[in-house]
Amino acid sequence: MNKDLRGRLTRDGIRIYETEDFAGMHKAGELAARILDGIAEHVFPGQTTGEIDQIITKMVEEAGATSATIGYKGYQHASCISVNHVVCHGIPGDKKLKDGDILNIDVTVIVDGWFGDTSRMFVAGKLPRKAERLIQVTHDALFKGIEMVKPGNTFGDIGHAIQTYVESQRMSVVRDFCGHGLGRVFHAPPNVLHYGRPGTGAVLEEGMFFTIEPMVNLGRPETKTLADDWTAVTRDKSLSAQFEHSVGVTSDGVDIFTLSPGGLFHPTYSS
Ligand code: MF3
Ligand code: CO
Ligand code: CO
Repeated sequence: MNKDLRGRLTRDGIRIYETEDFAGMHKAGELAARILDGIAEHVFPGQTTGEIDQIITKMVEEAGATSATIGYKGYQHASCISVNHVVCHGIPGDKKLKDGDILNIDVTVIVDGWFGDTSRMFVAGKLPRKAERLIQVTHDALFKGIEMVKPGNTFGDIGHAIQTYVESQRMSVVRDFCGHGLGRVFHAPPNVLHYGRPGTGAVLEEGMFFTIEPMVNLGRPETKTLADDWTAVTRDKSLSAQFEHSVGVTSDGVDIFTLSPGGLFHPTYSS
């Protein structure tokens, strides 16, 4: 039996959830964000990304929740950890973080059947100047997109707001990966592109749940996937950053499910 049968589908195949479903998304989103709050102190030079992932696995278990990524298409970790020129889907491992490394940590949890998906940038040690600008622009780009979320606007409006801002800062938006609908499932229609033209794409309606998760490169936008079939890197080896929130469309705007309970902003510095 399909567990995602509530509500209706639009003609673009996008599910419209009910008002009471927002509470489920808030619970899942808050846990994912709380895990990112708690992981900040574990990010420092000499630490391995594998150890960070182990701690995240424990945090998910202790909360009585389920990791959405362990077992997803064969993926075996509770997080993706993408360091420096890794764009996304970095696999946690034995490599030690170095002073000045920047990393995206992406966590998706399932609470009572609802999915909470969020990622943020972290820094091991001292944040290099050009990385600081990249991280700031990427976070601001995410919020330019979020500001466009309200009934009647289109997904193209979101992508356009992100793209024009990033390019005005002489950085580039990755085209090879996008945000996605979520809710009772991890990845659902629509593809949420982080570039586009105003007024194009599906029209936003109250009750849509999706992620916005722009990846921004200091250099060119092209990526390639490594032989492990997961790790995506910038082709030109330039630094890349990403932030992700899970959001819902309300009657007059947006509800962000994955805001930091600790009021932490970006980047989350440590040591
Ligand atoms: N959390 C990622 C996203 O934002 C997906 C990770 S899938 C994994 O959609 F298998 F790589 F973990
Ligand atoms: Co996502
Ligand atoms: Co994610």
